[in-house]
Amino acid sequence: MRILAIESSCDETAAAVIEDGRRILSNVIDSQVETHALYGGVVPEIASRGHMQAIVRVTEAALREAECTREELDAVAATCAPGLIGAVLVGANFGKALALSLGKPFVPVHHIRGHIAANYLAYPELEPPFLTLVASGGHSLLVLTRGYTDFEIIGGTRDDAAGEAFDKTARVLGAGYPGGPKIDALAQKGDPQKYRLPQSHVKDAPLDFSFSGLKTAVINLVHNAEQKGEGIDRAALAAAFQQAVVDTLVPRLRLAVRQTGAKTLVCAGGVAANSALRAALQRLAAEERCTLCLPPLALCGDNAAMIGAQAYYELLAGHVGVSGQNAYATAEISEDLCQKRG
Ligand code: KG4
Ligand code: ZN
Repeated sequence: MRILAIESSCDETAAAVIEDGRRILSNVIDSQVETHALYGGVVPEIASRGHMQAIVRVTEAALREAECTREELDAVAATCAPGLIGAVLVGANFGKALALSLGKPFVPVHHIRGHIAANYLAYPELEPPFLTLVASGGHSLLVLTRGYTDFEIIGGTRDDAAGEAFDKTARVLGAGYPGGPKIDALAQKGDPQKYRLPQSHVKDAPLDFSFSGLKTAVINLVHNAEQKGEGIDRAALAAAFQQAVVDTLVPRLRLAVRQTGAKTLVCAGGVAANSALRAALQRLAAEERCTLCLPPLALCGDNAAMIGAQAYYELLAGHVGVSGQNAYATAEISEDLCQKRG
């Protein structure tokens, strides 16, 4: 079964053709990152317009690279939540209209379910159930993936997502946008012990965490140094920050492994590309005797291949959009987007 998938929830316009949920026939990504870097972050209005301009070209490229005609497609899928709503609407509406014109089913996909499904493309043997750490720009969650379309959130951030914390810290350190890869590179050259940063604890919720205190600590450190006319060791602060994020996420994942008895660990989202997090997850998996799945770097960030992988399982579960299918800025990972109203 061949699915054309579209992703436009943030600043990447992407289209892919995926066979049987597991095989990438094409995976085209048109990034607007250079445009948004001028502003130090994603400008929603510019992102939406960028998707409008790119979506036909990107979709045609995906079909061409897959050597697949529109008529050979079995379904069309698109991210319908969560994301910048103006941006999501471009891909969702385009996908819906294309499906309608071809007389094929339209499959609405939850973006974070897609991030998890990126692992199905890299690990042919991977099947639910497994324990998932989601760490992206907008979400940081511990999720029990019980089935391909069955998710339970067991922990998560009370405020900023991990990627958001990376982006904000990079901004304070003047490291540029997007912050995650910049901090990752800067941290390679720094001593993580030089600065002491706080750890968060959420009372009576051991699987929950928070990044706002960490972010404030970095801001205060930089401002105090500036006021005193002292320099900051940017590499050391980046390394200390990155270590603090890893030390927040990994112990909670360890606790979740022990509480759930999970044997397979899966990481998903843009922050899964972080070198320190990947190394710490490998150590954790070895210590807890778990199988670990880390998406290849090319599938950590936003792409449409992951949406096509998840769409296959949504279609098998009968989750087909109706003509009135809407898109949403927010939606829980456990929600069925076909049933959601409003
Ligand atoms: O999953 P994603 O592509 O988009 C969302 O769905 O939000 O995640 C983007 C986030 C950004 O915050 C970016 O800074 C972060 O992932 N990121 C990283 C790295 N590469 C991307 N964070 C830490 N280390 C990295 N190497
Ligand atoms: Zn994403």
